Amino acid sequence: MQRVSTGILKLDKMLGGGFIQGRTYLIAGETGAGKTILALQFLRDGLLRNEPCVYVSLDERVGNVLTGAETLGWNFWPYVKNGLFYPFEIRLEAAEVRKYGKESKAFIEAIRRVTRGGPISRIVLDPVSALAMGAKEEFYVREYLREVITYLEEVCNATTLLITDIPTGSTKLSRFGYEEFLASGVIVMGITRLDGKLIRTIYVRKMRWSQMDPTIYTFDIQSGFGIVIKQPLDSLVSKSAMKEVKADDELSEDEEEQSS
Ligand SMILES: Nc1ncnc2c1ncn2[C@@H]1O[C@H](COP(=O)(O)OP(=O)(O)OP(=O)(O)O)[C@@H](O)[C@H]1O
Ligand SMILES: [Mg+2]
Repeated sequence: MQRVSTGILKLDKMLGGGFIQGRTYLIAGETGAGKTILALQFLRDGLLRNEPCVYVSLDERVGNVLTGAETLGWNFWPYVKNGLFYPFEIRLEAAEVRKYGKESKAFIEAIRRVTRGGPISRIVLDPVSALAMGAKEEFYVREYLREVITYLEEVCNATTLLITDIPTGSTKLSRFGYEEFLASGVIVMGITRLDGKLIRTIYVRKMRWSQMDPTIYTFDIQSGFGIVIKQPLDSLVSKSAMKEVKADDELSEDEEEQSS
């Protein structure tokens, strides 16, 4: 099985060598967790290897995303101009999803039109949860998504990232609870509080056919680099616990001095 780099060396290692080419992966996390940045880093890696890439924005204006990427030192515009990168936005109404149901023609047609039927190596749908917003019949959305994924995997043979937001503080892996079953792997990004600071975390929750590293790591977002994976969360927590123990010891020494 051929592997595709995520654009983050450490994450490739955590996944057992990167994504499997032509499969679909879910990037789940609460708002502001860094999902879009991870997705752009993945696409940028493809563009640097001269691979045709597609970014479908279902929520934010795509121009804002590309302009925002400049704050990280990433300039996507030359790739747009030379026809290697196809960023575009689709706004789907729930009624439309229902109408197309299982055929999901609108979405696939839009992708085909934008890429003029040419090859696609990597594609990101950000956030896929926007597809199902307000849709009452979950069945239609699931079938719709399944059709889109089948098209991307079987017709395009593209490595696909589905971005999904999960409600803050929730332990769910996806907004609707079925996206993870459609994906070959799941990466979870989060924000946790430690010592009065917010710490970013990332871990691999599932990775079919791979020996994955199940450790929860911490990460930073740095201009010029994007996502930089740091030490495991555990080592930070134990350091913080040690500090607490030390503080307690000092306190009890003070108490002893006072009482003597
Ligand atoms: N240029 C930058 N340098 C450092 N950190 C940045 C930079 N740009 C954004 N960030 C950090 O990244 C966070 C947003 O990341 P991103 O847009 O990938 O999140 P997201 O998970 O896609 O959020 P949403 O669910 O709202 O779309 C910001 O809150 C900020 O902390
Ligand atoms: Mg985002």
